[in-house]
Order: sequence, then C-alpha cells, then structure tokens
Amino acid sequence: MLYLTRKEHFNAAHKLYNEQWSEEENERVFGKCANANWHGHNYDLFVTVKGEPNSDTGFIMNAKELGDIIKREILTKFDHKNLNVDVPYFKEIQPSTENFAKVIWQLIEPHIYDCRLHCIKLQETETIFAEYYGE
Ligand code: NI
Repeated sequence: MLYLTRKEHFNAAHKLYNEQWSEEENERVFGKCANANWHGHNYDLFVTVKGEPNSDTGFIMNAKELGDIIKREILTKFDHKNLNVDVPYFKEIQPSTENFAKVIWQLIEPHIYDCRLHCIKLQETETIFAEYYGE
C-alpha cells in the first residue's frame, strides 16, 4: 500500500460562536475565535490517497487530477469566503478545524477513483491541525 498526498492552500474567515451561550461563555471557550467581526486563517490542506501504483503510470492516482478535484470541490467553494455566511456547510455545525476537515472529506471522497481517500489533514495555524480518516 502506498500513500500520495497533495497539498493546497487557501484562505477563509470564520468565527466560533454558540448562540445558546452568553457572551462570557463564548469568550471563555472560543477566545479570540469568537470575535464578532470574524477573523481569517491561512489554511493548508493535505489530501492523502492510498492504493497500489498503476503498472502503466506508476501512479496511485494522477496528482494533477487530484489537484484539479481539490481546486474544483474545495478552493472554488471556500477560498476567500466567510465559512459562517458564504457557504451552506456550517449552518448547523461550528466551522472548527475538525468539522471543516470532515466537510472536505465528504466533498472530495466521491470523486476519488482507482484508489481510496485516506486522510484529510487541515492545518489552521502553525500549531493546530485536524485529521479525518473517514470514521
Ligand atoms: Ni479561528
């Protein structure tokens, strides 16, 4: 089994805020991420597929085609967008790194062919990233 990872980069704004809670509780739990007027992140996205190399190409999957899928399914939907208001995916869930990684999996997975999606790693800051393996 071999693994191939494609990295892409995009920017998006969000805020983490629970309407059921008081201002103080939101501030306590989410800190700066609860800022009412949003804040931005420079996201690094790592999409890893797994499989056996094709005998003709040596590829698990064509890396350019994987990049095209990521651009079409993720970057065109999320780059330079406000996750809370510009896209439909976070109406019922927080736009946290964890939830975002799962949304990205759900958008990319149906388009992977000849191999399987292994991991979505979404890096939100230098020190924080989430990984989702589909379960
Ligand atoms: Ni944030």
